[in-house]
Amino acid sequence: MCGIVGIVGNTPVAERLVDALKRLEYRGYDSAGVATIHDGAMDRRRAEGKLFNLEKKLSDEPLPGQIGIAHTRWATHGVPNETNAHPHFVDGIAVVHNGIIENFSEIKDDLIAEGACFTTQTDTEVVAQLIAKYRRQGLDNRAAMLAMLNRVTGAFALVVMFKDDPDTIMAARFGPPLAVGFGKGEMFLGSDAIALSPFTNEIAYLEDGDCAIVDHRGAEIVDFSGKPVVRKHQISQATAFMVDKGNHRHFMEKEIYEQPEVISHALAHYVDFATNTVKPVDSAIDFKALRGLAISACGTAYLAGLVGKYWFERYARLPVEIDVASEFRYREMPLSKDQAALFISQSGETADTLASLRYCKDSGLKIGAIVNVSESTIAREADAVFPILAGPEIGVASTKAFTCQLAVMASLAISAGKARGTINAAEEKQLVQSLIEMPRIMSQVLHSIQPQLETLSRDLSKFKDVLYLGRGTSYPLAMEGALKLKEISYIHAEGYAAGELKHGPIALIDENMPVIVIAPHDRFFEKTVSNMQEVAARGGRIIFITDEKGASASKLETMATIVLPNVPELIAPMVFSLPIQLLAYHTAVFMGTDVDQPRNLAKSVTVE
Ligand code: F6R
Repeated sequence: MCGIVGIVGNTPVAERLVDALKRLEYRGYDSAGVATIHDGAMDRRRAEGKLFNLEKKLSDEPLPGQIGIAHTRWATHGVPNETNAHPHFVDGIAVVHNGIIENFSEIKDDLIAEGACFTTQTDTEVVAQLIAKYRRQGLDNRAAMLAMLNRVTGAFALVVMFKDDPDTIMAARFGPPLAVGFGKGEMFLGSDAIALSPFTNEIAYLEDGDCAIVDHRGAEIVDFSGKPVVRKHQISQATAFMVDKGNHRHFMEKEIYEQPEVISHALAHYVDFATNTVKPVDSAIDFKALRGLAISACGTAYLAGLVGKYWFERYARLPVEIDVASEFRYREMPLSKDQAALFISQSGETADTLASLRYCKDSGLKIGAIVNVSESTIAREADAVFPILAGPEIGVASTKAFTCQLAVMASLAISAGKARGTINAAEEKQLVQSLIEMPRIMSQVLHSIQPQLETLSRDLSKFKDVLYLGRGTSYPLAMEGALKLKEISYIHAEGYAAGELKHGPIALIDENMPVIVIAPHDRFFEKTVSNMQEVAARGGRIIFITDEKGASASKLETMATIVLPNVPELIAPMVFSLPIQLLAYHTAVFMGTDVDQPRNLAKSVTVE
């Protein structure tokens, strides 16, 4: 999604703005731009594609000026070219925007009827055109900004600069996040605290309906009617080291290899390593009293939630209703107060997940948030926050956040089972013990399977379609494997419940479509092997991801068998995530795609 930065500085800002944009690259973008004001003139540089194109333009034609705004654009309305790149200029007004102005078409028609001339295909341009119109009607900059905010609808984070006021930047939020940073005699605006981390760690997050007027002296925050509001200053934990790849080729690779370490941190928050018991959880959610749990999330976080459903139902006998957030929010699902709702989000800013949260909140449910960014909107609006402590995930394809989400949910399912009396003390100890052993096992697996997966990836890259199969908790994992492969290698892949094979997908089986079967030697193993037989009988090629027991129990011929250690059933989804992540990663590297920023994808999806 788009990234936004603004600086009211005491020294030239263009280079610092681009540096801040680099820290927002992880969000995904397809063009970028910078504007500054210098000696009464407002100027901009914009470029299609990656930031080095913008840097090249800036080095050929530098932009002086101690005040400026900048943007990385993830196209929604209008193709990703230089004309549509932000900042947009209209009559001495510069605007950058993240989100969607939903009524832009109606506003645009009105403005055109009044004689306005549009130069881009974007929804954003109406913001600049509206402010310009209100100024022509005699309003000052602040009043024109507020009038515009009362006219537009949709989701937006906006930052606006005025040529005739080179000491002020205005910003507004309704939906996508926006942070104000307080420096020494300088002020900053950014889509998140990571963007601002080298400048300041003193941050205030704007809330929906806030408009900030920022100058050298500080920030005045008002609501859209102009009434002052107060937003708490906080010290952000974000630091600039977060954008370091270390010795790895890609952030995704670094994040895959970080998993044992970050999962240990996450577990330390939820379980007591000395007594093999779960620590008490936030009392805002009383698992004992619950009749059911509603879970919602998007993409990989949703698939983590699906694994969680198996655990909450099995270990805590707690019925779980789960749906992708884009459906959940509109399903008009009957909910009752004896249910709680859990929302899973790495970024904590995903628009559909946030909307589902608000739907449940309005229905009176207690809200739990499983998030990586504990200062995020979803965390702030929840009753109980369950941090996954994965550290910043920069690669667009989620890896360590997924396994940390699983680790947290496994701990919560044990806590819920303990509170509800569905697991006894001995079972709790055994389950927690398996979680504690998991980072060590993951570490071993990461180092042992790498060479085999690298070779296998070369073979996999020759295919156009791949099917993933699994049963039980391996079914969501099959979907996650397919999602990872398609999003970074662009190979078409689908994940299915192994038992569904014969209800349709079996028609596709031939030697051109490898079938990746995820099957630890668990309660479902024999049944999954029967499904593999069905694939083999039709000439399908099988890549078998199993454990030592599974490998010796199956006599089927495979294209490759990846053998992991035998592990307790609870931790299998985390351990088996590693080969599916590495397989996708190496296939993408082999195919030469942009692994960390795959085409068309955004890290933080703040629009519907
Ligand atoms: C896929 C991926 C996405 C995200 C989804 C939700 O690798 O990363 O599917 O999981 O966009 O994002 P969050 O977790 O930030 O709500």
